[in-house]
Amino acid sequence: MATEEPSKDEKGGVKFDLEKETELRFEVDSGDKVQLELLSGLAEIYGSELNRNKKYTFESGCKIAVFTWQGCSVQLTGKTEVAYVSRDTPMLLYLNTHAALEQMRQQAEKENERGPRVMVCGPMDVGKSTLCRLLLNYAVRLGRRPTLVELDVGQGNIAIPGTMGALCIERPADVEEGFSVQAPLIYHFGSTTPGTNIKLYNKITSRLAEVFNQRCDMNHKACVSGCVINTCGWVKGSGYQALVHTASAFEVDVVIVLDQERLYNELKRDLPFFVRTVLLPKSGGVVERSKDYRRESRDEKIREYFYGFRGGFFPHAFDVRFADVRIYKIGAPTIPDSCLPLGMSQEDNQLKLVPVTPGRDLVHHLLSVSTADSPDENIIETSVAGFIVVTNVDTEHQVFTVLSPAPRPLPKNILLIMDIRFMDLK
Ligand SMILES: Nc1ncnc2c1ncn2[C@@H]1O[C@H](COP(=O)(O)OP(=O)(O)O)[C@@H](O)[C@H]1O
Ligand SMILES: [Mg+2]
Repeated sequence: MATEEPSKDEKGGVKFDLEKETELRFEVDSGDKVQLELLSGLAEIYGSELNRNKKYTFESGCKIAVFTWQGCSVQLTGKTEVAYVSRDTPMLLYLNTHAALEQMRQQAEKENERGPRVMVCGPMDVGKSTLCRLLLNYAVRLGRRPTLVELDVGQGNIAIPGTMGALCIERPADVEEGFSVQAPLIYHFGSTTPGTNIKLYNKITSRLAEVFNQRCDMNHKACVSGCVINTCGWVKGSGYQALVHTASAFEVDVVIVLDQERLYNELKRDLPFFVRTVLLPKSGGVVERSKDYRRESRDEKIREYFYGFRGGFFPHAFDVRFADVRIYKIGAPTIPDSCLPLGMSQEDNQLKLVPVTPGRDLVHHLLSVSTADSPDENIIETSVAGFIVVTNVDTEHQVFTVLSPAPRPLPKNILLIMDIRFMDLK
């Protein structure tokens, strides 16, 4: 760890001079705010370049690394939980990985084939999401249009928790807000761990691969650019099987394992020989997140969905009549094998649509609004248009009140209930 002495200016800002290939890491405490400004040189945050003399604001809970390839000086104003400069980063290895992927894209372009499909995996808190962002940013900065496939149902980045989806990346992530999520493809999963319904999880993974393949057939640029698949940190048992399933559904070419040799060896053993599996170290800067922190950041994601980034949106509240919608839960509770109807397996049960009768217990639950028109369609494999949260249920008048990003009426009437609840405390 380097110890460049930061210097303070009269307004309490702290200036850091970073040598090339070093990074400034800082965390913002809950309730605090920190401003960052690039004074000279070049710097980036997870692959998004910083503009000179622009003030970037980071709020509660942000964990940031400002990296510079060439050297720079930056200024931090506000209270940071920690702030230090490190020379010891795996960024050169990450850059080399990007360069190898870019070579594969060039090759694909020449031979009219498809570009690299990359799966990033590893245990919790090793920087998987961050590496995905970095690789996507570097690709899009070279003019590529890679696809982010988000399979982390707990801490995903393109919709609210409890969903899986894909997003075509057209510009680098905004330094403060992340990737712009204008037209994502989203599927309803319903809970924050794949384990609650692994059959459904794998089914949706396959569906996403199918849709991505269709897109590649129609869009040469997307095909050549490939995809980066972010996965969740559950790497044992069914979680591991889900990774193997993902690799085969997407026919991935490259698997990046962060920080865990055991997982790396298992995947090398179990995936076909032509899949390039690489083990990369995690950054020493990646911060472990507590259970509470994870729950808070899930809540924050949901709040952001309804209220916008830093409260830029104004959601609508309105009543929905029980009679106007149909609510389903995906997956019936498991019952003993001996009680299953003849010819039906436990797994069929996991993909069943179970009608939900609206009642008091609906309160605070999130509902996905399916794009399907009729329950006879394949609801499970149909994308969702958006989400609402139930804020009140009036059984006497047979209506419930919802918070919705769009004004009434609901665009469709098939709703899928999540296990996930959200208290609207605004
Ligand atoms: N080099 C770094 N320095 C400081 N913080 C980092 C660095 N890399 C990642 N982080 C932070 O660490 C946290 C965990 O990283 P993340 O990529 O979300 O891990 P994972 O997806 O494996 O759970 C995030 O809040 C992220 O912003
Ligand atoms: Mg993650």
